[in-house]
Amino acid sequence: MCGIVGFTGKQSAAPILLDGLKKLEYRGYDSAGIAVMDQAQIEVVKVTGRIANLCEKTKDGEAVPGTCGIGHTRWATHGAPTEENAHPHLSNDGRFAVVHNGIIENYIALREELIKDGYHFESETDTEVIVHLIEMYYEGDMREALIRATNRLRGSYALGVICTEEPGKIYAVREASPLILGVGVGENFFASDVTALVNYTRNVIYLEDGEFAELTEESVRIFDVLGKTIDKKVTRILWDVQAAEKGGYEHFMLKEIMEQPGAVKATIAPRIRDGKVFFEELNITQDDLKKVRKIVITACGSAYYAGCSGKYVIEKLARIPVEVELASELRYSDPLIDEHTLLIVISQSGETADTIAAMKECKARGARTLAIVNVVGSTVATLADDTVYTWAGPEIAVATTKGFTTQVAVLYLLAMHFADKLGRLQEKEAHLLKVLESLPRKIQQAIDMNAQIPELAKKYHSSKSLFFIGRNTDYAIALEGALKMKEISYLHAESYAAGELKHGTIALIEDHQPVIAVCCNPSIMEKTLSNIVEVKSRGAEVLALTFRNNQKILSAADDFLFIPEVDPVFSAVVEIIPLQLLAYYVAKENGCDIDKPKNLAKSVTVE
Ligand code: AGP
Repeated sequence: MCGIVGFTGKQSAAPILLDGLKKLEYRGYDSAGIAVMDQAQIEVVKVTGRIANLCEKTKDGEAVPGTCGIGHTRWATHGAPTEENAHPHLSNDGRFAVVHNGIIENYIALREELIKDGYHFESETDTEVIVHLIEMYYEGDMREALIRATNRLRGSYALGVICTEEPGKIYAVREASPLILGVGVGENFFASDVTALVNYTRNVIYLEDGEFAELTEESVRIFDVLGKTIDKKVTRILWDVQAAEKGGYEHFMLKEIMEQPGAVKATIAPRIRDGKVFFEELNITQDDLKKVRKIVITACGSAYYAGCSGKYVIEKLARIPVEVELASELRYSDPLIDEHTLLIVISQSGETADTIAAMKECKARGARTLAIVNVVGSTVATLADDTVYTWAGPEIAVATTKGFTTQVAVLYLLAMHFADKLGRLQEKEAHLLKVLESLPRKIQQAIDMNAQIPELAKKYHSSKSLFFIGRNTDYAIALEGALKMKEISYLHAESYAAGELKHGTIALIEDHQPVIAVCCNPSIMEKTLSNIVEVKSRGAEVLALTFRNNQKILSAADDFLFIPEVDPVFSAVVEIIPLQLLAYYVAKENGCDIDKPKNLAKSVTVE
């Protein structure tokens, strides 16, 4: 995720900006840059790759004079990680420079309008429209220009802006993206998070959505959307630096679990327009879809389980047959794939070796390829005929959480899109769109309604093994729940389709054997209930994942994880939340290295 910093004071700005950017490195980034103002001139320096490259290019900042500036680490979203796309972006007249964290949803329309008005663009980013809008609206008053420019923007943004007409001033604007002001003595700062500030000051002001700030070395002025000055409380930061890097969370995994409402929203919201699911990035026409005889989904690990849950939804809504194949198997299986196959490739990193190999194999057989990827510009994204990005932001914990839920969210959107194109949605469409839009809220509720999980972890953490059961999409989530558990807590955890128990696994059920039963699909609830009764009568302890008012399950099981009521077509993305939290707290009880589990890598780039 991008990070921004700003400084104004008496000292040289560049070294302070570089230091702040280093503190933001943990957020993940692929390019970086600074803009420093000196004698009413702005100098911009940008690099791809590490901050170390920026330090080298600027001689640790010494080569860029000036006491006021802004800096940025970029996690590529719109456009590849290149110097042109790196921030800061300059206005055509060179008077303004902007750094931005967030996504401008209406940038295409604004870009077209600005091009018509004679502005030229140097980058492919959504951000560049902002600097041209500011130039267009500036008539001698930055406050006015910022209000008019941001009034035109839809989406999320934390902005840092400098202007040669106003030396010594830095401006910050916040809308749905974190931004904090640092109040120093004879110097002031802003940054995406406190990590970048605590070396200089522990006195901070948290900006809220719709607020603007104008900082000079001696003053901090904050104003609202109408330009009215407002007073804000200064807060003293007491955290240690390490904690701040994780946003106050003990582990990146917990932070990433908590980020899921926002990540799923960022994935879904821009793709719903005028009562339809709309993919700007897809070139699959109705005719192309009509020629598709089957969809094959391929991936590894959690991404494969995302595919398993997507299969049910695509088949249900679009009525296209879907096969889900492990990439490591597909690549060596002499697959029955041809030009009538649509291959959906899912990968958070976009660099998983087996996934890439399976993709190449299927491409060679004529399949059209559609990638669902988080990392912009990654190999899978580049190889695919069509790429849909999950806007999860960087995922640092090895165990995927927001990477998984945003993949499932994209599969839901694709199911709707395909069904619509094939004329198979009709009157269901409006209702399903509402459900899709409610998912971020439902995920938040699933986080909030499970405060009992740390206590449950104390009960289950010493188990020798855990069985997870479920049916249909509940089964897909049981698979992912078991994987989360084993990879971070090192407990033996296995998932079974509940109906398969009697075909063998039930032999393993004995007194106090924990069974985690996922029962969130009303149409097959009775069936899973029978399985709960079967294992309970053999002495199992059942931890059921279900709704709060599900009396039948509540009276059959021993312990509970809850989700809010949500249409079963799209409930899987909510169901996984309590299982992620359970795995997290069990691993914590067991004293495991949660963010970096033994033997595992974030990106498996070898076979
Ligand atoms: C999940 O928590 C894993 N660490 C792992 O299974 C992962 O999902 C798999 O390696 C695939 O990675 P990718 O999405 O980057 O391709």
